[in-house]
Amino acid sequence: MAIGDTQQSGYGRLRPSPGGELTEVGPGTPAGELLRRYWQPVGLSAEVNDRPVRVRVLGEDLILFRDGRGRVGLVDEHCAHRGTSLHYGRPERDGIRCCYHGWLFDVEGHCLDQPCEPPESTYKDKVRQPWYPCREHHGLVVAYLGPLDRMPVLPRWDLIEEGDGVVVADGTSYGLGGGTILDCNWLQTFENVMDPFHVSVLHSTVSGQQFSAAMASRPRVTWELTERGMRSIQERELSDGRPFRRITEVLIPNVRIVPNPHAGGDQGFRRADALGWHLPIDDTHTRLYSLLRVPVRDGQPVLPPRARHGGKPWVELSEQEHQRMPGDAEAMISQGPIAIHALEHLATSDRGVIMLRRLLKQQIDGVRRGEDPAGVSHDPAQDLITTTAGNWVLEAARP
Ligand code: FES
Ligand SMILES: [Fe+2]
Repeated sequence: MAIGDTQQSGYGRLRPSPGGELTEVGPGTPAGELLRRYWQPVGLSAEVNDRPVRVRVLGEDLILFRDGRGRVGLVDEHCAHRGTSLHYGRPERDGIRCCYHGWLFDVEGHCLDQPCEPPESTYKDKVRQPWYPCREHHGLVVAYLGPLDRMPVLPRWDLIEEGDGVVVADGTSYGLGGGTILDCNWLQTFENVMDPFHVSVLHSTVSGQQFSAAMASRPRVTWELTERGMRSIQERELSDGRPFRRITEVLIPNVRIVPNPHAGGDQGFRRADALGWHLPIDDTHTRLYSLLRVPVRDGQPVLPPRARHGGKPWVELSEQEHQRMPGDAEAMISQGPIAIHALEHLATSDRGVIMLRRLLKQQIDGVRRGEDPAGVSHDPAQDLITTTAGNWVLEAARP
């Protein structure tokens, strides 16, 4: 219903279907092709042991395994012979062996053995299990699902490479207050990062003060494009009158750098210490993978506390409690499995969301024209990404 149609009820309103070039992630879709031009997290190293792991990434069903030499492999779930799931396969020294007729595939999909074929057969040399390059990086397994001739270097990020403590990998929706998998499209979870106005409502007045007192007031916000994405700059005043600047950043296509939302107090004011990927599992499910730089106490990494609502972890809340104390997960997932852009009424506070959608569209168009999208480097000497996200008090040493 258009704004101003005050004489109409909801009867007969438009019911456009969702979908579109920013939300679909499968092979051959516009956003799917953009997302496939970057290394993406597909699992945690610690989860890949002596049994194959089923993973769904960008709408593809895959099997992650570790061979006896310690290498990780990511292959199509269904065996190239007659389709049995390699979830039931057996990792061996040189690869994964299908349970049905014993075909053995290495981490690059080469077929090394077909035990039911005659010894002189060379048929195995003609078979290749679909596979993707993957590596381990700070406890994450990352994979590249795009065209091999466009494969970028695996980047490093200043906030992860530099600083005290240790880096840990996490595969839950840290900081979004949800469980492991968010039951909605990736884009609506990613847009949340460029939507700082909701902090002063959802996380402050509606649900009680979910973040620190310094974060509760409504900020003055500007958004800027950066070399690799965009950022929002949020200006507030502390109770003692000092200016407080918070910078939140996104890197194309799906990386978030969100500084600690508990700015001030114990956490102080400092550079962001976590990087997160909004990984599309498929069009209607998303998983957040993170790298966090954390302190060490008694030889153990100390992770930041999980979001608690009324003293309970999010997953233990009743539906009534979710209604009383909604957080990011409730706000984002309830937009629908795929938020329908044609039904929205975007306002001035959505300028960051609008900029982000436009930026993603430009990147998609560039990939269509055969260009490399933002932030892709093929030069191993140019693998370090510098970032600006953090919570700063302006008299502090760093602006
Ligand atoms: S189906 Fe895998 S070896 Fe036959
Ligand atoms: Fe939020």
